Amino acid sequence: MTTPDPLLRFRPEFPILERTTYMISNSLGAMPRGVYDSVRQYCDTWATRGVRAWEEQWWMMAREVGDLIGAIMNAPSGSVSLQLNVTGCQAVVASCFDFSGKRNKVVYSDMNFPSVMYFWEAQRSRGARVHMVKTDDGIHVPTERLIDAIDEETLLVPISHVVFRSSYIKDVKAIVEKAHRVGAHVVLDAFQSLGNVPLDVQALDVDFAVGGVLKWLCGGPGTSYLYVRPDLGRKLEPKITGWFAHEHPFAFEIGPTKYGEPPFRFMQGTSNVPGFHTALPGLKIIREAGVDRIREKSKKMTARLIELADQRGWKVNAPRDPEQRGGTVAIDVPNSKEVCAELLRRDVLVDFRPKAGVRFSPHFYNTMEEIERALTTVDEILSQMRVVAGAR
Ligand SMILES: Cc1ncc(COP(=O)(O)O)c(C=O)c1O
Repeated sequence: MTTPDPLLRFRPEFPILERTTYMISNSLGAMPRGVYDSVRQYCDTWATRGVRAWEEQWWMMAREVGDLIGAIMNAPSGSVSLQLNVTGCQAVVASCFDFSGKRNKVVYSDMNFPSVMYFWEAQRSRGARVHMVKTDDGIHVPTERLIDAIDEETLLVPISHVVFRSSYIKDVKAIVEKAHRVGAHVVLDAFQSLGNVPLDVQALDVDFAVGGVLKWLCGGPGTSYLYVRPDLGRKLEPKITGWFAHEHPFAFEIGPTKYGEPPFRFMQGTSNVPGFHTALPGLKIIREAGVDRIREKSKKMTARLIELADQRGWKVNAPRDPEQRGGTVAIDVPNSKEVCAELLRRDVLVDFRPKAGVRFSPHFYNTMEEIERALTTVDEILSQMRVVAGAR
């Protein structure tokens, strides 16, 4: 007899699970049904309270939602500001530093999410000396290689906690230790980890952590988070700034800004209030479900995916060691791109990435039966493709 799965009690909260095999939480998490009420409440507030909504609720929401996200990564209250996207978070961090001196090196890996790379590459014209550390196997970059590249001239080290392409979990502790030994700062992209893989920003002593809510945290687009280590948060002065960051925003003072306290210190202007409303229900569910429990289940589901792929002789582009693997398993099934398109047509929601294959990303709301079903659907598609090819 198998023990009941306590996380399945959250299943009814996600309408799309009734109609699809939803295994794409690395791209967009399933929408909690509570979002309908949350967005309605936003509309009601706007409709009935009008401009008073700012003072009564909206202004402080950025801090409340930031704290809810912060609690999931053990960040102290007030240390997480909200931004529109991760790319913008990198820009805010970059704007706190000066690249004109000798310490102007940015060390990152070619396994970072491309947008993060595009951003840092573009900073070359502003004086950043960008050093890209490369992967050999398309799954990971050896920690030693990254660490060796971080030297006394390194200013910033933007890295992913979990690599989007392969789900490899980086040894953040070792990277932060080296960075701090030589006076560099680590910008941790936790988009593919937070909500699925435990993260403790204080224990790891990371300087910055960034990510968004729309994948493993089951929120909507337009709400991203920027954690700044509190001692840095009190002294850094972002040059991408605006009236929200001012010490007295409603004094509407003329002239240079006077920076206020975090989290608003790292914000710019009017915030994405409807986005906050789409984020709240998912954050509350994740808090209730508990990331440790989610992680335990995730390891079992990804292990089963690998087992099923191995049985079929398909190449797995994910770490074999469960401790080094996040929530996604990319499988290089034959004709991955076409198979993925057909899976979508059959309501098995996954995605395809070049150099990775079909990515399966189950979350706490999935069942083990769905894992089996996803792969037997691939079997069916492949055998139908063979029949069609044979008939030609
Ligand atoms: C690790 C990682 N970072 C960043 C992004 C995207 O960043 P942005 O919020 O700028 O779209 C993604 C995926 O969408 C990602 O997987």
